[in-house]
Amino acid sequence: MIRSVVPRVPRTVAALLVAGLVSIPAGTSMFAGDAGGADASADQVASGADVYAASCARCHGAEGEGGEGPALNDLRSMQAFRTASRLHAFVRLSMPYDTPGSLSESEYFDVIAFLLDWHGLNPEGVAIDAVSVDELLLVD
Ligand code: HEC
Repeated sequence: MIRSVVPRVPRTVAALLVAGLVSIPAGTSMFAGDAGGADASADQVASGADVYAASCARCHGAEGEGGEGPALNDLRSMQAFRTASRLHAFVRLSMPYDTPGSLSESEYFDVIAFLLDWHGLNPEGVAIDAVSVDELLLVD
C-alpha cells in the first residue's frame, strides 16, 4: 500500500530540530491554518460535539462505544486514517452512513475537530479548516 505522509514540518526543518540547531518558541503554531487561536478552536470543538450528538451518536454511541456503527472511542480507529485529511475525506463522503454528505462544510470540519480533540490528536488546538486539515498527522 502506498501511504501518503504529509510531514508536519519540512524535512530539513525537522532534521534541524532533531539536531537541536533550530528551536521553535513555545506557543508558536506551525500550522498555516491556525489563524483563530485556541479560543476559536475550543468553540469549534464545542460545535463539533453538538454535531456529533445530533448526527453521529445514534449509530456510534454517545460515548463512541459503537452500535449500528463501529466504536469510535478507540484511538486506533482514528489513527488508522493516518492523516486528518483522510479522516475528514472519509467522514465527508460517507457519513452519516444513511445520509452521506448531508452536513455543511463547516459541520464536517467541526466534527473532525471534536473527534481529534477527544482523542488527544490535536494537542496544539489547531482550528480545523481546509488548510490545517491537510497538515495534521494522526500518527508520529
Ligand atoms: C446511520 C448510522 C451512522 C451514522 C448516523 C453515522 N455513522 Fe459513521 N459509520 C457507520 C457505519 C455502519 C460505519 C462502517 C462503515 C464501513 O465500514 O464502510 C461507520 C464508520 C465510521 C467511521 C470509520 C470508523 C472505523 O473504525 O473505520 C468514522 C470515523 C465515522 N463513521 C464517523 C462518523 C461521524 C463523524 C458521523 C456523524 C457526522 C457518523 N459517522 C454518523 C454508521 C453511521
